[in-house]
Amino acid sequence: LTDGRELVMVSNRLPVDRVTEPDGTKSWKTSPGGLVTAVEPIVEELGCVWVGWAGSADEQIDAFDEDAMRLVPVELSEEEIAEYYEGFSNATLWPLYHDVVARPEFHREWWERYKAVNARFAARVADEAPEGAVVWVHDYQLQLVPKMLRELRPDVTIAFFLHIPFPPTQLFAQMPWRRRLIEGLLGADVIGFQQVGDAVNFRHAAERYARVHSLGNTIMVPADDGTPTRSVVAQEFPISIDANAFSQLAKRDDVKSRAGEIRAEIGTGRRLMLGVDRLDYTKGIPHRLKAYGELLADGDVDSDEVVLVQVASPSRERVEAYQQLRDEVEGTVGRINGAFGSIKNAPVVYLHQSFDRREMAALYVAADALVVTPLRDGMNLVAKEYVACRNDEQGVLVLSEFAGAADELSDALLVNPHDIDGLKAGLLRALHMPLDEQQRRMRALRERVFDSDVSRWVQGFLGAVSAAADQRTQDERADAE
Ligand code: G6P
Repeated sequence: LTDGRELVMVSNRLPVDRVTEPDGTKSWKTSPGGLVTAVEPIVEELGCVWVGWAGSADEQIDAFDEDAMRLVPVELSEEEIAEYYEGFSNATLWPLYHDVVARPEFHREWWERYKAVNARFAARVADEAPEGAVVWVHDYQLQLVPKMLRELRPDVTIAFFLHIPFPPTQLFAQMPWRRRLIEGLLGADVIGFQQVGDAVNFRHAAERYARVHSLGNTIMVPADDGTPTRSVVAQEFPISIDANAFSQLAKRDDVKSRAGEIRAEIGTGRRLMLGVDRLDYTKGIPHRLKAYGELLADGDVDSDEVVLVQVASPSRERVEAYQQLRDEVEGTVGRINGAFGSIKNAPVVYLHQSFDRREMAALYVAADALVVTPLRDGMNLVAKEYVACRNDEQGVLVLSEFAGAADELSDALLVNPHDIDGLKAGLLRALHMPLDEQQRRMRALRERVFDSDVSRWVQGFLGAVSAAADQRTQDERADAE
């Protein structure tokens, strides 16, 4: 895939998180979010050096080997976590890039810290990357790394993938350091996005704020030191999952029997609607609850017949907007259960916890419908996981048209989460969908998910990166002659 070049992965978080157990002992667990779900299976196969933060403050951990990976932890102090991670990454960039569904905050100190931490990541990678390696930088937390790394290590080929949306120019315009971010990214040879629209937005922003020209997917970047113009590919490469691995997991006896247990626990005959999200304001959880609460109030659904199991895994808990969201969601769940529950049956089972993949697969197998209602989402891999786990070709996917996944998964029941009546109609339709329609839709969805799975994504992206690397080698030879 990389034509023999060694691979270095760089992301804010390592694929494993350092956790301190209640008894004080330390252990490692899989990191949250879609980035790891998508990337981990590939690097397990390819092998790589992976540079990232271990998720805890001020802890010095030496590099160590895990399967085919060498993990290189980058340390962050308490101030850096507050200003670079919780601040600039998650209270500025995250809301700005998700259509400002929450108001982004702009603070100069946060920006300074973002630059400093990006410089530390770049320096660390420069130390670790073998000669001529492919360095693959991930996501919005590290947008300055490509340019910084290029200055330190002109020999490496640099790829960047943005796992979240890139906003329209009208919104990106708010960013006080917009030109610096664009220039940071343009240090890469290939910049990958989730959707066509994201790549288009980026190319527009680059033309406007970095005064470069683009032709199709290629941006021409003039070098300041008089060396020839570089070309940078900025294109969509929609991410996916290891569909087979999820499907195999769902076939395991322990997973199937756990799914049976879940169904028995919610009560025989009750329909199970499932929500699975990080507890994040982009995910539209309040909208989902509002629609469901109204259906209960209208008498269109009854808690003896239906239950919504909402897994909301804890996320970014010290960021204010996340605390407010948690209060709102937990208040609403309490009100719905208080008003419409019985001693036997609560209409909402709310789980503010993270579960391992096996338990998730069992939930997917048990669920009659998965409800995915983000206001904006780069892709949403949970939707694809559900489809991959439905070996029985049953179950209904209710999917927001504002999730990147909606581009590919058009056989889902597509909804606009802002339209509460439309969302209610979608939920009712899911609950009453005849089996033959479920099967027709699920077969089409499965075809899509198995066809464009994660290996397709990696081949497409790394193929473009290898082509860029070959081009660089040719250009260097031509220069030398
Ligand atoms: C999303 C982002 C990732 C991030 C993950 C978990 O998937 O695209 O970059 O790692 O959420 O968020 P966290 O802030 O806990 O790393």
